[in-house]
Amino acid sequence: MASAALVIDAGRVAWTGPASRAPAADEMVDADGRAVLPGFVDSHAHLVFAGERGAEFEARMAGLPYMAGGIRGTVAATRSATDAELSANLRALAAEMLSQGITTFECKSGYGLTVADEARSVALAAQVTPEVTYLGAHVVPPEFERDPAGYVDLVCGEMLAACAPHARWVDVFCERGAFGADEARAVLRAGQAAGLQPRVHANQLGPGPGVQVAVQAGAASADHCTYLSDADIDALASSATAATLLPGVEFSTRQPYPDARRLLEAGVTVAIATDCNPGSCFTSSMPFCIALAVREMRMTTREAVWAATAGGARALRRDDVGQLGIGARADLIMLSAPSHAYLAYRPGVPQIAAVWQAGQFVAGLRSG
Ligand code: NIG
Ligand code: FE
Repeated sequence: MASAALVIDAGRVAWTGPASRAPAADEMVDADGRAVLPGFVDSHAHLVFAGERGAEFEARMAGLPYMAGGIRGTVAATRSATDAELSANLRALAAEMLSQGITTFECKSGYGLTVADEARSVALAAQVTPEVTYLGAHVVPPEFERDPAGYVDLVCGEMLAACAPHARWVDVFCERGAFGADEARAVLRAGQAAGLQPRVHANQLGPGPGVQVAVQAGAASADHCTYLSDADIDALASSATAATLLPGVEFSTRQPYPDARRLLEAGVTVAIATDCNPGSCFTSSMPFCIALAVREMRMTTREAVWAATAGGARALRRDDVGQLGIGARADLIMLSAPSHAYLAYRPGVPQIAAVWQAGQFVAGLRSG
């Protein structure tokens, strides 16, 4: 809406409507023709890790494929890092996200893969977000290479017991080179029995059972969805499982982009997230992901912004964020541009002028 106003009270949206009819307020910010959007909701990120994998990225750009095994390099670095080092990296990335308009983010474990390292990963994540995901089932760590079933038992047993108190979600990387359908089902069932809600890394590296496993488990989201069959799309469309697309991954791994248009036309709820992680996609920029989704996945600018806000909220089963209706948490972004479309129209250009979280100014220039 043009010439609109929004009133915030006690951290929530209290009134919206035409500026000419806005009630009086104690303090006023004039957007001066710039667009105001809900804060971005990033429903998929891996921020608890140490080290980096720039050389792996360079090798990919020289022709090597992305492989799930690269995760093990980050596992080694994460295991040898101190809590303070992990926390500093995590907080720096969270701050990077906030300054780019992400006011809600999910954060996964998955680079520890021992009981102690997964437990500290979820505990550290819980200090910065309520949307913590236990991803003990990221890959089978090297010490269990000859006993993957033993590792699944650990993930479903002692490791889950240590992590569940700090987590809201349970996730599994259901993919060749990671975990198969039966293993994934076992992990999700155990997590649900411990009070966690399921979400799944699905169909990232090739066609596979991940989406069906997610839908059957009643997962909030099936993430990646790079390789989908018609049956996968039908299953998503007739479920409450969102498809979370991660265009930064396709960018950083040179894989084909999924066709969001096909999903939208089938009636699937589509979210866009960053998947910020040191391996497959090291970006914390939702505007970059929006631009890719528009250019490469056949989304309109409006659909892409919806997917990065309300769509992300659906993928986290949240109704208090990702939108600016009355009663929503007052998480707002003011752009330095007149329209949301500029996020894709001017790719790579910093345009987040100011960010408010629960009504508090948290990033950017106060004057815009
Ligand atoms: O979402 N797919 C599995 N996990 C991450 C990649 C992690 C990594 O490469 O370190 C992802 O792409
Ligand atoms: Fe991921």
